[in-house]
Amino acid sequence: MPAWAFPTQPPPPKGTPPVVNDSVTLHTVPNSTRQFTMKQVNNPFDIPDWFPSQHPAMPSSVQYGVRPDGRACGYCHLPDGQGRPENGTLAGLPVEYTVRQVRAMRVGTRGIANPATPVTPMLAVAKGFTDDEVRTAAKYYARLKLTRRNIVREVTDVPTTRIAGLLYALDGTGTEPIAGRLIEAPESIERHELRDPWVRYTTYVPVGSLARGRRIAQRGPAGVATNCTTCHGPQLLGVGEVPPIAGRSPSNLLRQLINFRTRARADSTAAPMYPVVDALTLDDMVALAAYVGSLPPSSLKRK
Ligand code: HEC
Ligand code: HEC
Repeated sequence: MPAWAFPTQPPPPKGTPPVVNDSVTLHTVPNSTRQFTMKQVNNPFDIPDWFPSQHPAMPSSVQYGVRPDGRACGYCHLPDGQGRPENGTLAGLPVEYTVRQVRAMRVGTRGIANPATPVTPMLAVAKGFTDDEVRTAAKYYARLKLTRRNIVREVTDVPTTRIAGLLYALDGTGTEPIAGRLIEAPESIERHELRDPWVRYTTYVPVGSLARGRRIAQRGPAGVATNCTTCHGPQLLGVGEVPPIAGRSPSNLLRQLINFRTRARADSTAAPMYPVVDALTLDDMVALAAYVGSLPPSSLKRK
């Protein structure tokens, strides 16, 4: 389990006063006419919506959640379902796939490979919603289209980073060898923290990753009869309840491959992924996550 793939900021020392969100200063993001304070930005029961005209009206579960534990889905996965690297995209996911994943989190058959990464954000949510409430949200997100939010760059040296929550942020001090890692960071951590759905993320990977990823995706891992397209479709845009993977956050894709490999994802429906991930090295997974994430995201319309 490579801990670098699961950036996790340690909890603050005991006795640290909780962060008080400013309720006075108004913030904006590029191209939005709206303004919110940090108190509004960080309200999980009435989420900030920077671009209301860019998506249909949100169901209550997505916009307001269900008190006390069911924080609104759109708080983390955003109103347009583009999600963020640390939680993932929901736009275009098959309805029953989404419902099943949340149920798996609730009953403990879907976890996270790094024991230091808190499962609490989704666990509390999963317990705070009924399957029916999740399904309402899942239907809303399934109709939305994933659009490109990430750029993949092959490098020998990566800008240095710090960990902000469950994500890397560029710290602007220099570079260091990429050393086999996959590092995804927002172009602006401020815009990320304002929950701006249009902030772009750059993923840095070792030179040669994209070609290697393409080769494995097309031929399948050595010794495995199936390649990724057999199940995920010719353009990796998903088939039936097998989820689309093209164009999604590379760091999130990598974590999911590791979660299958370590069996942190142990739901019965995860079994088809086991022979695949068991035949991959960590370098293969980095290459696949980079390649798959660099593909055009789903343009399929789902009902
Ligand atoms: C407090 C933040 C938060 C909220 C609110 C939240 N999620 Fe999540 N969600 C996460 C995180 C973090 C993950 C990543 C877990 C992982 O890496 O396995 C996640 C992952 C998921 C996944 C797995 C995606 C995939 O393709 O693997 C689904 C599905 C999901 N959430 C659905 C929902 C739904 C539906 C709601 C509202 C009912 C919701 N989430 C609310 C934080 C949140
Ligand atoms: C034999 C069928 C099969 C093959 C081959 C396969 N997958 Fe999957 N994959 C699945 C299924 C089914 C799921 C959903 C698992 C679940 O429900 O937990 C999945 C899920 C995933 C996920 C998690 C997506 C999410 O939303 O969290 C990733 C990432 C993934 N596959 C990548 C790949 C890659 C890369 C390859 C090729 C190297 C591949 N898969 C080959 C069947 C397959």
